Amino acid sequence: MSIADRWDAIYADASEPRPASEFVTNHAELLVGCPTAIDLAGGTGGTALWLSAQGISTTLVEISERALGIARDAAAERGLQLLTRNADLEAHRLPTARDLGREQGWTAAVCSNFLHRPLLDWLDHLLVPGGLAFVQIATVDNLLINARPGRKYLVKRGELPDLCSGLETVSFEEGWFAGRHEARLVARRPG
Ligand SMILES: C[S@@+](CC[C@H](N)C(=O)[O-])C[C@H]1O[C@@H](n2cnc3c(N)ncnc32)[C@H](O)[C@@H]1O
Repeated sequence: MSIADRWDAIYADASEPRPASEFVTNHAELLVGCPTAIDLAGGTGGTALWLSAQGISTTLVEISERALGIARDAAAERGLQLLTRNADLEAHRLPTARDLGREQGWTAAVCSNFLHRPLLDWLDHLLVPGGLAFVQIATVDNLLINARPGRKYLVKRGELPDLCSGLETVSFEEGWFAGRHEARLVARRPG
């Protein structure tokens, strides 16, 4: 079964987007005046739809067509604009900003609960100079009380800022958030 098929099957019974990431919504002040955003592996679009509701032109990227369909339906119901792109963010050649529909890149990028280390190293290629990335990933400490996600989907303590090597850290924290141990990074593309 392909990765896309596996995630389509996981989303088979879903009909509504999951809630937006509170890590992102808690940073609403950083997004004021931000014209464009991209949510990478953004699932059923909860965060992307929240960004769109803030007046930000938002692109949701997913490998699961099923997840994109749920997000598109919710956008239509809520009267929100949402651009959707089906792409494999673990492909050997990662998609460029042009591939994803915006030649000059986005002013904000979100990557939440999706770990592919080369993608984090690539984030600066998807952002305009000065653009902000919001990255949220569970750490290995999460295994202390939660069996999932498995180790290969987890970052080591202190690892996340180094993975985003093209970006400057704005804020970084690690800790327990609603019963889950996460690394949370806001970082900026220099320039
Ligand atoms: C754990 S979910 C996280 C969804 C969302 N970002 C969130 O925080 O709720 C991981 C998402 O990554 C997507 N995904 C998995 N592999 C992918 C790939 N190679 N390229 C793009 N998306 C992928 C899945 O379809 C799924 O929606």
